[in-house]
Amino acid sequence: MIPIKKKLARRILLVDDDESLLKLLTLRLKTVGYEVETVLSGEEALVKLPLFHPHLVVTDLRMGEMDGMKLCEQIQKKYQTLPIIILTAHGTIKEAVAATRQGVFSFLSKPFESREFLEQVNHALTMKGACQYGENKEIDEQWRANIITRSPLMNDLLRDLSSLAQGDASIFIHGESGTGKELIAQAVHDASPRKKQSFVAVNCSAIPEDLLESELFGHRKGAFTGALEERKGLFQTADKGTLFLDEIGDMSPAFQVKLLRALQEHQIRPVGSNKTISVDVRIVTASHRDLEKLVADDVFRMDLYYRINVVTLKLPKLSDRREDIPLLANHFIANPDFNINGKVKGFSNDAMEMLVSYEWPGNVRHLKNVIEQVSAFSTTPIIPVKLVEKALREKPTTIQSFKEAKQEFERQYLTQLLQMVNGNVTQAARLAKRNRTEFYKLLKRHLIEPSHFKEKS
Ligand SMILES: Nc1ncnc2c1ncn2[C@@H]1O[C@H](COP(=O)(O)OP(=O)(O)OP(=O)(O)O)[C@@H](O)[C@H]1O
Ligand SMILES: [Mg+2]
Repeated sequence: MIPIKKKLARRILLVDDDESLLKLLTLRLKTVGYEVETVLSGEEALVKLPLFHPHLVVTDLRMGEMDGMKLCEQIQKKYQTLPIIILTAHGTIKEAVAATRQGVFSFLSKPFESREFLEQVNHALTMKGACQYGENKEIDEQWRANIITRSPLMNDLLRDLSSLAQGDASIFIHGESGTGKELIAQAVHDASPRKKQSFVAVNCSAIPEDLLESELFGHRKGAFTGALEERKGLFQTADKGTLFLDEIGDMSPAFQVKLLRALQEHQIRPVGSNKTISVDVRIVTASHRDLEKLVADDVFRMDLYYRINVVTLKLPKLSDRREDIPLLANHFIANPDFNINGKVKGFSNDAMEMLVSYEWPGNVRHLKNVIEQVSAFSTTPIIPVKLVEKALREKPTTIQSFKEAKQEFERQYLTQLLQMVNGNVTQAARLAKRNRTEFYKLLKRHLIEPSHFKEKS
């Protein structure tokens, strides 16, 4: 037999619970130049498929939990054109007929001769489907195109993601702020069979509690003041697709009950309606908070926690994958929104060293902001360390909660007012159009002492 040239090597996945047979077949196939991977069960084969992208699967018929026929059924749901050869010591006509009906390429009874086996493999690989599927590897990897990484931690996570995405299990993404939780949620959708349907992202902490119900479940016309029209909720918008509930840890206990019901029953009830609507959504959630701790503190319902957290994807902090920093920095610098006219070409060595050794409390988002800032200010094609140093000295911009921002505004307003009137409360209250008692209460709430503003004579 003429050895196959390396560049034409086809990938073959062997599935058998008999390790010695796997070794023997691998040896035969490798000798003639095929690339081979082996797994010991049908379940493992399903995990391996999206990672190895074989051109052909050769599987035993009788195996543990998932037999060869069941495995074929599963494979053909997703990879209709991928040829499969079933090997069996127990080949019967009935099974052979069923296998051909399922579209399995061929059925080979053990014991078989090496030549016969290789001919079958060769024949299967010249079928149209084999090539189509194998060459589609790039298309199949589209889901990870926006995720820039070379970190082994991230690659492990992405490998888990790609196999988890094939099912419907609820996934909880845990990671510090700016680690890429939303990007990963989108990747789960893009890698899943639901990718052609909608991906709907909802930030649970940004929507006031009383609006969240109508936002997610919809409402009928006139259900509450302001409900002028009937409105479809986001659960329905995401029907057959994926619903991403971000910052789930901030959801109020009252709403957690309503969400749990919807998830258990796969049904929602729009506000003001007495009819339920069935929905088919894959739920992905995320939080920077430790949900287990929230459960222990009785802030998050345990039953909801188990429902949304069938599997957790834990995103590493940027400082735990420093090898990604140069990659990301160069990726961001190539972004035409940051780098107008492409004037900036790269970083000086000490600038890059500083980026790599920094702690990045705001993770990738923080890095992105810093790169945006330094590219805007750089007057030279190579960014100098001074600019990076300056950008890192400034605090990362974080969004305050509405309550915090309001408090800060009130404190500043009161301080300025008292400075203007030299601590005269009556005058300050008049300018603020508040009565004196009310004004005093405000000062007390902010621990502001008017006498401190009196001019010293
Ligand atoms: N691996 C990555 N490759 C490319 N861009 C990334 C990567 N990780 C994060 N980003 C970018 O960084 C920014 C922050 O990511 P994302 O919004 O997904 O993070 P997050 O964890 O949801 O943040 P937050 O907690 O602030 O909501 C986005 O602009 C995203 O595109
Ligand atoms: Mg986010």
